[in-house]
Amino acid sequence: MTDRELLNLALRARGNAYAPYSHFCVGAALLAEDDRVYLGANVENSSYPATLCAERAALASAVTDGARRFTAIAIAGGKEGEAPLPACVPCGVCRQALSEFCMPDTRVVIGDENTLTVTDFGVLFPAPFTLKED
Ligand code: THU
Repeated sequence: MTDRELLNLALRARGNAYAPYSHFCVGAALLAEDDRVYLGANVENSSYPATLCAERAALASAVTDGARRFTAIAIAGGKEGEAPLPACVPCGVCRQALSEFCMPDTRVVIGDENTLTVTDFGVLFPAPFTLKED
């Protein structure tokens, strides 16, 4: 699975975002170590804090399926009805959630149909909070 293919899956997932309040649609595609891919889209709620981000939707799906180690995550986001932003980075809550399962060298792929940028998770979130002692 190339980074472009993974980003294309995130772009496709973005099409299923449920965002009637913010009108900001996000898709995510999480690549497990064994090449399985898990998709997520943001799912908003009338009670705003109940909203689920795309990245955490993908993470919940992956962990539910038994996947716990990830080599890459692709994210695509932008205003509903418009082209995605060239670079939509994960929010702080999602960075913390991903830090439970992602490695410092897990690739974070952001972009749109034309642009693709890759960074390491450890660069985006260098000092996660953890209760693990290892
Ligand atoms: N959102 C995500 O899905 N991922 C992020 O990393 C940031 C924000 C969603 C939540 C909400 O539905 C909309 O984008 C606007 O904040």
